[in-house]
Amino acid sequence: MAFLSDTLARVKPSPTIAVTNKARELSEAGRDVIGLGAGEPDFDTPAHIKAAAIAAIEAGKTKYTAVDGIPELKKAICAKFARENGLSYKPSQITVASGGKQVLFNALVATLNPGDEVIIPAPYWVSYPDMVLLAGGTPVFVEGKMEAGYKINAADLEAAITPQTKWFIFNSPSNPSGAAYTRDELKALTEVLLRHPQVWVMSDDMYEHLVFGGFEFTTPAQVEPGLYDRTLTCNGVSKAYAMTGWRIGYAGGPEHLIKAIAKVQSQSTSNPCSISQYAAVAALNGPQDYITESRVAFERRRDLVVAALNECPGITCPTPEGAFYVYPSIAGLIGKTSAAGVTIGDDETFATALLEETGVAVVFGAAFGLSPAFRISYATSDAALSDACARIKSFCEGLK
Ligand SMILES: Cc1ncc(COP(=O)(O)O)c(C=O)c1O
Repeated sequence: MAFLSDTLARVKPSPTIAVTNKARELSEAGRDVIGLGAGEPDFDTPAHIKAAAIAAIEAGKTKYTAVDGIPELKKAICAKFARENGLSYKPSQITVASGGKQVLFNALVATLNPGDEVIIPAPYWVSYPDMVLLAGGTPVFVEGKMEAGYKINAADLEAAITPQTKWFIFNSPSNPSGAAYTRDELKALTEVLLRHPQVWVMSDDMYEHLVFGGFEFTTPAQVEPGLYDRTLTCNGVSKAYAMTGWRIGYAGGPEHLIKAIAKVQSQSTSNPCSISQYAAVAALNGPQDYITESRVAFERRRDLVVAALNECPGITCPTPEGAFYVYPSIAGLIGKTSAAGVTIGDDETFATALLEETGVAVVFGAAFGLSPAFRISYATSDAALSDACARIKSFCEGLK
């Protein structure tokens, strides 16, 4: 009898973490590696947030807290939703977990039964399909083509909905493509959803602050108040305040769903780290300068990377609206052979050859459900990005 569960057998480990580990290994072995795989800001957590955490430790706020968040943090989250998204939630409609990832996972575990379908636009964040599988549901993919800016439209969404559809996972700006939906594009999707009352919306707004060129960020429950009662609006402090290691994510939604999510958490991890919760209060209530500063830096890097990649023969890189990722197509490289004799049959071979031959670590598109492409996280220094793009260019020029 197999020791591991059938459910686990359906799931694969995170490919982005695998690439990061491989790059670290090569680097430790003395290779000159530029890692563009990890999805985290390279900036430090702002000083006033760290100070709030230190003050919390010194004040003895080091014990168990309420399972799904301290009242101060829930209040700060309600104020954030009202201030930035025009959404009105009561503290009883807020849940806090150990990262946005845990909020999404808990919500799926709390709601999915075998046979339930979850619509996921591709390219998608690597964890969505596997979280759905772990929770016993069935992922249903809808492709957002490069020519459409990696976005899906109303007809695509309508065609994917069945009586079994339970959730539509919406992620704008997107990891991995950086694509963000305009208010009108989102409105077209919400009009479809209004016609299908069995479908709930899980909006992953993790990258909301990283939008460029005056782009206006909007979220489904804000654009279509008719969906408020069946939308879980998910967010977190990881990307907004360079707090990936602190592990605080949160969501607002209907009270009965929030209670169900807390039930899952009460029997698994219990409360998120007490100290991190106090730090998150300072992040949400305190000065917001970091958000603007990081946005300026990321926009400059986006422009640098997009321009440099479009100079590489065989690579086409659209300009995304947000996040800190680009998702170039390598359709023009398939079938070519590298200087070391590797034939580029797909995007995984491309990423492996690129790492081995140039030391640049990127994540192959198949991991995100749309090929042939790759993802670059440009959350690293301008100098490292210029160096990496120069290496990618010489790799492409060397292909026969
Ligand atoms: C789209 C998306 N959602 C959620 C998360 C989870 O973030 P965290 O668990 O750090 O809050 C990430 C992190 O990479 C992400 O890219």
